[in-house]
Amino acid sequence: MKNINLTMGCLLVVSLLSLNGAPLRDAQTLYQVKCQMCHLSQSPKSKEAYNKMSGPSMNYVIKNLVWGMESEHDDIKPEELKKVSIEFMKDYIFAPDRKKTNCEDVSFDKFGVMPNLKGYITDEELDVVLPWIYDKFKPHKVNGKWEVAK
Ligand code: HEC
Repeated sequence: MKNINLTMGCLLVVSLLSLNGAPLRDAQTLYQVKCQMCHLSQSPKSKEAYNKMSGPSMNYVIKNLVWGMESEHDDIKPEELKKVSIEFMKDYIFAPDRKKTNCEDVSFDKFGVMPNLKGYITDEELDVVLPWIYDKFKPHKVNGKWEVAK
């Protein structure tokens, strides 16, 4: 009986730990749990679904971010573009500010400024999820023209 109680106690502690505070290590899960509640991957086609969104779609956000970073840095190489885009996001997520934005006014009129995610996501988790988001949603240049991620 004593052993069973001990095992049950350990299981309870382990499950509590994994629910609260244990860092998530899988990028896609992190994206789904911590970003997708506000950012759908793509804008939905129906007006009804669009009106229910609480943030701009991720492919729109990343497209504007990459275009913004590219116009700020002349002849930037792809690896450097990825680096500065991730740095921008890391800063923005813990210190969002309309003055820094790459999004259009219409985005702020509809959604307001993104809340500060301090305490909701850790630095460590951002290091896992941001490169994954960048690679998945970045627009591509095809024959010198940008194509948005689908
Ligand atoms: C509670 C809702 C919410 C959550 C959760 C959220 N965002 Fe946002 N985010 C917003 C809104 C609203 C905007 C548009 C206004 C703005 O840019 O501040 C936004 C804008 C952004 C931008 C554009 C910044 C700019 O203005 O150039 C990036 C990048 C971004 N989010 C990344 C993320 C990532 C990555 C996550 C998950 C780790 C996340 N967001 C989670 C609501 C959210």
